[in-house]
Amino acid sequence: MRYYRRFTALQRVLHVFMMLSFLGLAVSGMPLLFSEQPWARVVARLFGGFEAAGIFHRLCAVVMIAVFGGHVLHMGYRAVFRKDWKRLLWGPDSMVPQPQDAVDMWNHFRWFLGRGPRPTFDRWTYWEKFDYWAVFWGMFIIGGSGLLLWFPVFFAHFLPGWMFNVATLVHGEEALLAVGFIFTIHFFNGHFRPEKFPMDTVIFTGRISEEELRHERAPQYQRLEQEGRLAAYEAPPPTLEAKAFGWVVGGGTLVLGLVTAILIVYSVIR
Ligand code: HEM
Repeated sequence: MRYYRRFTALQRVLHVFMMLSFLGLAVSGMPLLFSEQPWARVVARLFGGFEAAGIFHRLCAVVMIAVFGGHVLHMGYRAVFRKDWKRLLWGPDSMVPQPQDAVDMWNHFRWFLGRGPRPTFDRWTYWEKFDYWAVFWGMFIIGGSGLLLWFPVFFAHFLPGWMFNVATLVHGEEALLAVGFIFTIHFFNGHFRPEKFPMDTVIFTGRISEEELRHERAPQYQRLEQEGRLAAYEAPPPTLEAKAFGWVVGGGTLVLGLVTAILIVYSVIR
């Protein structure tokens, strides 16, 4: 079977560090947010106490901010030095929403309601772009408020006191939103859609099979074929090691994430 490149090595590495740091932030942050719950004490004890959980949280925050900074720098490099800014902002390879995304979404919802055929998507689907931008703007909100909580003395030189109360609220609420979204909808897309179950390893291996590209990304396949660029994307099949890594890291994150989501729901409805 033939395979084609979908993600570059840099994108795969950044995603692994993003998911591990996000999981670490979620698992160490939730005991702080729900500190009155009995399970919070158990989880905090695994870190060595609430204070140690706070230190672990800050370490993971450094990793996440570095990943985000690395991604933004790389985009800047592509836009300025490789003069690639048009492709970054417009067309099928861009993460910026395009008119076609609205059409795709409309057709997808028609299919959900049994009113039309199942649509196929180009390189990025509308929900993949939604996930991307959710993390992008979320970084400013959760990262900005987190830095305020981390360095209150520094920020108090130029910010009023009430900002720190707002930052605490915003940080906790945005964390719940992010955890709720990633550990349910994002996991559903990667693990629980019938054609992906139990795991889509493409983000770890970077390779998509010809079968998937042809059927699930038909417009991209046809475009590459017509432009004679398909061969340039051809790649060796994913190695067993890359697949095993995906299963272990992806599966581990899935289990820990779902447990965290269940504990949150339990705490809120209890
Ligand atoms: C990336 C930048 C981030 C920074 C700089 C940051 C920083 C912080 C700091 C300094 C605290 C206070 C910790 C303490 O009291 O010891 C905190 C609390 C918390 N963080 Fe983060 N954090 C970040 C991202 C995240 C993410 C991505 C999540 C969730 C997925 C998260 C969830 C939480 C929660 C739930 C709390 C407890 C809030 C409360 O007690 O009301 N944080 N964070």
